[in-house]
Amino acid sequence: MTHADDDGFSCTAEAAEAFDDIPRSAPANDTIGAVIARRFSRREMLKGSLGVTATTLLFGGAALTAPPAGAAEMRPFDFAELKAGVDETHHVAEGYTADVMIRWGDPLFPGMAPFDPNRQTGEEQVRRFGYNNDYMAYFPLEGSARGVLCINHEYVNPEVMFAGIGGRPDRNHFVKITPEHVEVQIAAHGVSVLEVALREGKWQPVLDSRFNRRITAATEMTVDGPAAAHARLKTAADPAGLKLLGTLNNCAGGQTPWGTYLTGEENFHGYFWTDKVGENGRRLNRGFGGAQQKSYERYGVPSNWVSWGRHHDRFNVEKEENECNRFGWIVEIDPLDPQSRPVKHTALGRCSHEGAEMVVNGDGRVVVYTGDDSRFEYVYRFVSAGTYRPGDKAHNIRLLSEGTLSVARFDEDGTAAWLPLAFGTGPLTPENGFHSQADVMIDVRLAADLLKATRMDRPEDVQPHPSNGTVYIMLTNNERRKPEEVDKANPRAQNAFGHIVEMTAPGGDHAADKFKWDMLVTCGDPTIASVGARWNTATSADGWFACPDNCTFDADGRLWISTDQGSSWSKGTNKADGFYALGTEGATRGLPKLFFRAPVGAEVCGTCFTPDGETLFLAVQHPATDGVRDWKQFGKDSTFEDPATRWPDFNPAMPPRPSVVVIRKKGGGRIA
Ligand code: FEO
Ligand code: CA
Ligand code: CA
Repeated sequence: MTHADDDGFSCTAEAAEAFDDIPRSAPANDTIGAVIARRFSRREMLKGSLGVTATTLLFGGAALTAPPAGAAEMRPFDFAELKAGVDETHHVAEGYTADVMIRWGDPLFPGMAPFDPNRQTGEEQVRRFGYNNDYMAYFPLEGSARGVLCINHEYVNPEVMFAGIGGRPDRNHFVKITPEHVEVQIAAHGVSVLEVALREGKWQPVLDSRFNRRITAATEMTVDGPAAAHARLKTAADPAGLKLLGTLNNCAGGQTPWGTYLTGEENFHGYFWTDKVGENGRRLNRGFGGAQQKSYERYGVPSNWVSWGRHHDRFNVEKEENECNRFGWIVEIDPLDPQSRPVKHTALGRCSHEGAEMVVNGDGRVVVYTGDDSRFEYVYRFVSAGTYRPGDKAHNIRLLSEGTLSVARFDEDGTAAWLPLAFGTGPLTPENGFHSQADVMIDVRLAADLLKATRMDRPEDVQPHPSNGTVYIMLTNNERRKPEEVDKANPRAQNAFGHIVEMTAPGGDHAADKFKWDMLVTCGDPTIASVGARWNTATSADGWFACPDNCTFDADGRLWISTDQGSSWSKGTNKADGFYALGTEGATRGLPKLFFRAPVGAEVCGTCFTPDGETLFLAVQHPATDGVRDWKQFGKDSTFEDPATRWPDFNPAMPPRPSVVVIRKKGGGRIA
C-alpha cells in the first residue's frame, strides 16, 4: 500500500492516511543532534549527493559496509537491464516473458462464469481472486512444477472496482456505496490460497484443487498468545475473546519452514468507523473516553477510510469498542490443510505490520522480523521460546505462540540494540498503563515509545538472508521528517525516496541482544545533488530507484527489491515502479539493476521464486491509481467514466485489474 502526498490521486487508504493526524511516536525518543554527528560526519550527510561521478568519493568504502566476514562474492546478476520509463503496460528485461496468470475477479473454483464487474456480489467475490494482491509465497507440491500459492489481498480501490460511484467514495461521504458494495469489499480482502501448475510451459491455476480457498475480512479465525481471551479482545459477539472474524489490510508476510503462511495486518485502523466528525468534516479519534482513549489516539482508530461501520456494528467504534483490538496482528494460515482455522499470534505485537519474515536461528529458535509501516514507527524482532523440530509440524505450529518481542534502537556507533517488550520490566508497569503482557502486546507502539526505540522512515519489509546473518530493512520514505529529527539510521530530512539499512547478527546469531548495522543504499536520483542518494558508482540512469517496499532473496541468496513510490513518481522520478536486482557483496554492493517495470499507477509488491529459480511470481497492485490524474488517457476519478478518453485498448467493461505476473526465461533456465 502506498501513502501519498496530500494531493496524490491514489488508493483510498493512502489518501486517508495523508489526512491523518495520528500521533506518531514522540520526537523525544531521538537524541537528534547527538545521533547525527558521529560515524558519518554531519557535513558529509548535509552536502548531499553527488552526481554519478561524485559518488566515487563516497563509495570508496566509508559509505558502504564491508561484506560480512567470510562472505563469498555472489553470483553476478546476468541480464540486460531494462529501460526505465512510464506507460500503460508492464515490461521485463529482454530474453524473458512476463505473462498475467490471474487477476482480480478470476475464478478460483470450477464451473464459474467469466468475471463481470457490473454484476458483482459478495457471494460471488468470495469464490474469486481478491483485490490488490500483495505478498505471495509458494509451497511446493511437486518441486517447482506444481505448488500452492498464497496471495495477500491488501485493500480495495472502489473507484476502479465499481461503475457509477463517481470517483473515490471517501471524498464524497460514501454516498454511492451500497451495502452490496461493502459485502464485495469485505470478500475482496484477505488471502487467496490457490494451487498452480506449470503445464506446457505456462503456469496456470488448478481450479479443481482441494487446496483452493479464500480467506476474507469475515473468515472465522482464532487467537493465541498473551492477548488471547483478554478483556480487551472480548466483544458482544465473542464474549470469550477467542473467535475472531476476518483479517484486514494484508500487506506482506512470511513463510515458515513447517509449511505455513504468515500474513501481516497493516493499516487496520482505517477500517474503523465513527459517526462523530469534527468541524472540518474529518473523523475524530478523540472523545471516546475509557481506558482505550490513549490507544485509539496512538493507533489512529477510528479513521473512516471505508464505510463498513455503517452496515456492520463491529466496525463502528461507538457500537463495539474492542473490535479494533482484534486486528493489527500477524496471522498464520496452513495452506495445506483447507479445514484449518487461521491463528492470530498476539505474541508478535499489534501494529501496522508490513510483513513477518522468518529465519531459524542456530540454536533452533525461530526469529521473525517485522516492520510497523507508518511514519516514525519501529522495527521489531520476535524470538520464539521453543525450538524448531524438523518434520514435527504439530509442535512447530505453536512456536509463534510464546516468545520475546523486542524493538530496535539504532545507535550512532553502528550497533543496534534489541530492547525486550516484557511486562514488569523497565517502564512497562501499571504506573504507565500496562497491567499485563496482553496490554504490552495490544499497545506495543506505546510500549516501544517508552523504551525509546528509534523512530524510522516507514519500515516496510524486513528480510533476513537465509544463511549469512544479514537482515535488510526497507525504509520506504518519510517526507515529514524534519531536519532536526534526522538520525544516523534515518539520515535525510523530508525523505522522499527511502533507504535500505543492513543489519548483521553477530556470528549469525539472530537472537543476540546487539547487532551491527549500516546503510546499504540511500535511494533516489544520484545525479541531483540535493537528493543525497548513495549508490554503487556503476549505477545506471535506469538502475537507480526510489521507495523500496518489499524484497526477496533468490535461490542464489541474491537480493531483489520491489518499489512503491505512490503518486510521487509523477513529481519526482518519472519512473514507473519496478523490480530491481541489488548487489550486496563485493564490487557490486549497492548496485541496482532494473528487471521489470509495472504499468502506470501500479506498484510492484510481493514476489517469490520457485525453488529452482526458474519462475518468478510477481504481484502488480492497484494499476491505474497512483499519480494518474495527469496521465492523459487514464486520469479520471473512476475508470468506468469516460472510457473514450482511455488508452486505445481500454475496455470499459473490464477495468484494469491487479494481477499476478509470471516471469520466465525464454528457452528455460534460472532467472538472471
Ligand atoms: Fe502495504 Fe506498507 O505497504
Ligand atoms: Ca508494502
Ligand atoms: Ca520479503
